Amino acid sequence: MGILKDKVAIVTGASRGIGRAIAEVFAREGAHVVICGRKQDTLDQVAREIGPAVKPVVCHVGRIDQIESMIGTTAREFGRIDILVNNAGTNLAHGPCLEMDEAQFDKMVEINVKSAFRLVKLVAPGMCDRGSGSIINIASMSGLRPQVHSLLYSMTKAALIMMTQSYALELGPRGVRVNAIAPGLIQTALSEYYWRDQQRSSELFARQPIPRIGQPAEIAEVALLIASERGSYMTGQTVVVDGGLLLALL
Ligand SMILES: NC(=O)c1ccc[n+]([C@@H]2O[C@H](COP(=O)([O-])OP(=O)(O)OC[C@H]3O[C@@H](n4cnc5c(N)ncnc54)[C@H](OP(=O)(O)O)[C@@H]3O)[C@@H](O)[C@H]2O)c1
Repeated sequence: MGILKDKVAIVTGASRGIGRAIAEVFAREGAHVVICGRKQDTLDQVAREIGPAVKPVVCHVGRIDQIESMIGTTAREFGRIDILVNNAGTNLAHGPCLEMDEAQFDKMVEINVKSAFRLVKLVAPGMCDRGSGSIINIASMSGLRPQVHSLLYSMTKAALIMMTQSYALELGPRGVRVNAIAPGLIQTALSEYYWRDQQRSSELFARQPIPRIGQPAEIAEVALLIASERGSYMTGQTVVVDGGLLLALL
């Protein structure tokens, strides 16, 4: 029997990469998983590949109407939401800090931070009413250490980590756990710039205690622990899953 049997989960940004891996692992463990992204055909393809436990729903997490519609669809079909994974994120504004403009600032905040705020506001009340729920925010090690040319990404991920702690403090007494995962370099489309170039990646991994790139499934198994009852005494934490890279940067 799966450890998420009959749980209902929403995983944002699950048409590829880390989100898709989380959806796969949750489905393997018996959950019903609503996956979202911006494109119907890629979501449908993922749903076909993972199986009937997955329900694809198009939702741009920067649009409140689409978020409301996804929550409504989930509530109508499954009656409740037990697990929320705020995974969708972007790194569209990469470059020297003084070259960042207000439009980039707003976009990064909207997708990486405000989306989580909006989703928690809609999902957490039901969890509080039932006295049970697990919310997982996918942050980044960049939210714990600054990186050159990563002002807006680091800033938004740091905000997500503090949101995690603030929600955990208030929602814990109502039965809702809120945690974050801070991945290091994971092999996905988002991080291609860092791993595609052989020289850049070998320099990075030479210093890392586990000297290789991480895989999306290695984040998904940690998300499973936090989402399930096995993580029942964890809240407000940011679990760093980075092959030890942060240690090497100290
Ligand atoms: N990969 C890494 O090394 C790494 C490290 C630390 C943290 N992270 C974090 O992990 C999370 C997942 O990243 P990833 O590496 O798996 O990225 P990815 O492979 O690029 O996947 C991103 C997913 O998010 C969806 N998405 C993007 N913008 C969206 C939006 N506005 N609304 C709804 N869905 C949206 C994408 O689908 P569509 O394009 O079809 O919408 C896709 O399914 C992000 O929060 C990222 O910051 C990644």
